[in-house]
Amino acid sequence: MTYDAATDAVSGRFESAAAYPQPTVTIDCDGVPWATVAAVPIAEQPGAFAFSCALGPVAQPTRSSVVAREWNGKPVAAESVMREPLRNALGLLASDVLATDHHPFSALPWITLSGARLTVTGMHLPPEGDPGKLSIAFGPGVAYDLAYGLASPDFREQYWYWPNADQSGLILTIDLAACARGSDPFHFRFVYPAARNLGGGKRPIDVWLPRSFESLMGFPTDSALLRRVQFFSDSASAAITGYNAFETLAALFAKAGIEADSGPRLLDWGCGHGRVTCHFIDRWPAAHICGADIDAENITWCREHLRGSFRVLPLWPPSDFPDASFDAIFGISVLTHLTSDAQEAWLGELARILRPGGVALLTFQADANAAYQSRWRDPDWWSRWRERGFDDEQFDPALEGSISDPTYYRNTTQSSDDFRRKCDPYFELMTIEPAAFGGYQDCAVLRRRTP
Ligand SMILES: C[S@@+](CC[C@H](N)C(=O)[O-])C[C@H]1O[C@@H](n2cnc3c(N)ncnc32)[C@H](O)[C@@H]1O
Repeated sequence: MTYDAATDAVSGRFESAAAYPQPTVTIDCDGVPWATVAAVPIAEQPGAFAFSCALGPVAQPTRSSVVAREWNGKPVAAESVMREPLRNALGLLASDVLATDHHPFSALPWITLSGARLTVTGMHLPPEGDPGKLSIAFGPGVAYDLAYGLASPDFREQYWYWPNADQSGLILTIDLAACARGSDPFHFRFVYPAARNLGGGKRPIDVWLPRSFESLMGFPTDSALLRRVQFFSDSASAAITGYNAFETLAALFAKAGIEADSGPRLLDWGCGHGRVTCHFIDRWPAAHICGADIDAENITWCREHLRGSFRVLPLWPPSDFPDASFDAIFGISVLTHLTSDAQEAWLGELARILRPGGVALLTFQADANAAYQSRWRDPDWWSRWRERGFDDEQFDPALEGSISDPTYYRNTTQSSDDFRRKCDPYFELMTIEPAAFGGYQDCAVLRRRTP
């Protein structure tokens, strides 16, 4: 077994006579099972396997005894290694990033249908750094196969601090023809083990897959309109992520007492090109749906292509909506782009146009986003962020040329405490759903206080 200080990882090779369909190696660190990783067959050497495993976070140089065991528990390698704390190129310690409270990030942007076989491809960080700890749960009667722990070089770069991020790849195959009649192959959960460290043990994350071809229709063909909303977007990923966001919102609204059939007046604040609005329009026919955005070009596209009403908003309130115009409002990834002052101004405005007792679902970026950006952060930035719990210094160029003030649009990170303080004058904070959107945005469920 060899140790690589640059990645704080051990790797090795061994031979085995046992034949298992998905061979693995379990790594014990200082006598405690740490992670189960894939044992990859070595092509030119039948019966031989290779493995590699990043170890857990350390803040100081540390001596550890590491044992690798094959799938039947037999040790195949043992070593005492002198470990170095993992740092990014700017000197930030991985152990500092991992000490924050966040969910393991996931992204499932690709979905294909071949015959009656649905394949979902994406990434999910190993819970607690251990690829052996990810599982998914469907309801009864669903025929599926999950391959997980596959190579994911992009995740390794982005999630430099997360052990075994390079083994985040997943391919989920659902055999629709083999699913029982009445089963639901379009909804599953990522399930995590009890918390030990590294953001495991949180609430399970629900994933919904589009259940009709109609959900995939009618997105902008002009990529500039898509990229202003999500810089990596294409129409297929906008369709899938938008549909999943719709189902997530509908479930949160239902819990908060906002039901489609009661004909609610609903505002999609910061609707972009209607990636999510369009699903409410299709699936909540009794509701009165309005989308509003500061991006006039995307609003024009919505007006030309979607039913519902669409409004251009000024950068700063007031809007021209009368008081108490809506029973419910949602804003996905809108506060996440505003300065502290703009957040305060818009929270007051949303409270004005929401009826007393109405529900707002607003996303914000907290620890998971700080961690996601940590690749570009130095130790000073990190300690400032930990102290202040707010950062809006980074400009986001996505709306350049589309809005009058080029300094308006930011990339904002804030602690739950900061968010709570800003909402408190207007809203009762019912709950925060961690990592509910896009894998890293938390969602606050708020009820408008009665003035
Ligand atoms: C990241 S995009 C998300 C769009 C949409 N909510 C979605 O999930 O597809 C952020 C959107 O918020 C809009 N926006 C930014 N500041 C806004 C404000 N003060 N009021 C309304 N919309 C705003 C932007 O123009 C952009 O369309």
